[in-house]
Amino acid sequence: MNPNVILPGVFLAALFLISSEAPYIKATNVVCESKNKSWAVFHYCRLKAYSRNKTSVNINATLLHPANNIMVKMVRMVKKLSGYKPFLFDVTVDACLFMRKKHNPVIKMFYNFIKDLSTLNHTCPYEGLQVLSDYHTAKFPVPLPPGDYGVLMDFIFDGKKQLYVNTYVLHL
Ligand SMILES: *[C@@H]1O[C@H](CO)[C@@H](O)[C@H](O)[C@H]1NC(C)=O
Ligand SMILES: *[C@@H]1O[C@H](CO)[C@@H](O)[C@H](O)[C@H]1NC(C)=O
Ligand SMILES: *[C@@H]1O[C@H](CO)[C@@H](O)[C@H](O)[C@H]1NC(C)=O
Ligand SMILES: *[C@@H]1O[C@H](CO)[C@@H](O)[C@H](O)[C@H]1NC(C)=O
Repeated sequence: MNPNVILPGVFLAALFLISSEAPYIKATNVVCESKNKSWAVFHYCRLKAYSRNKTSVNINATLLHPANNIMVKMVRMVKKLSGYKPFLFDVTVDACLFMRKKHNPVIKMFYNFIKDLSTLNHTCPYEGLQVLSDYHTAKFPVPLPPGDYGVLMDFIFDGKKQLYVNTYVLHL
C-alpha cells in the first residue's frame, strides 16, 4: 500500500474535542468534497456504525499532484434553532509547518489521536492515496454542552480551497 497518509486525519481529530466525562459522542455524518478534481479525488468518505452509540469515520482520497503548501481552516459549529453557528474554534493551521515542527501543543494532541490510524507520520509533500481508518475516539478535557456540532475543515493548497471535510457529531 502506498505509504502516503491522510492529511484530513490530523484535523478530523479535532472533531472530537470533547469532554472525557461525556456519556458519549458519536459522529452522525461526514461529508467530503473535492473542489478541484484534477488535484483531489475522494473514493470513500463514510461512517461505519458499530452500535447505536458508536460510529467511526473512514476516509480515503487521492491527491493527484503533490501538495506542498497546505493550510487547513477549521471551524467548529454548534447547531441552534437558526442553524449552525461558529463555536469555540476557528483556526487556520499551516499543516506542513506543523508536521515539521510539531510546535503547536493543541494540534499535536489531535495528531496523537489519529497518528496510529493513518500513515500520517511524514512531512510535506502529500501525494497519492490518503487514508483515515476507523477513527472513533478522543479524550479531551474540554467540557461542552450537549448538542449537535459540526467541524468544517477546508483544505487550502497554494492559497485556494481545494477540498473540504465536514463532520457532524452528537454530544449527549
Ligand atoms: C486545480 O489543480 C491543478 C492541479 O494541481 C492546479 O494546477 C490548479 O491550479 C488547481 N486549480 C485551482 C483553481 O486551484
Ligand atoms: C479506497 O477506496 C476505494 C473505493 O472504495 C477502495 O477500492 C480502496 O480499496 C480503498 N483503499 C484503501 C487503502 O482503503
Ligand atoms: C447509548 O447511550 C445511552 C445514553 O447515554 C445509554 O443509555 C445506552 O446504554 C447506550 N447504549 C449502548 C449500547 O452503549
Ligand atoms: C514516525 O514514527 C516513528 C516511530 O513511531 C518515530 O520515531 C518518528 O519520529 C515519526 N516521525 C515523524 C515525522 O513523526
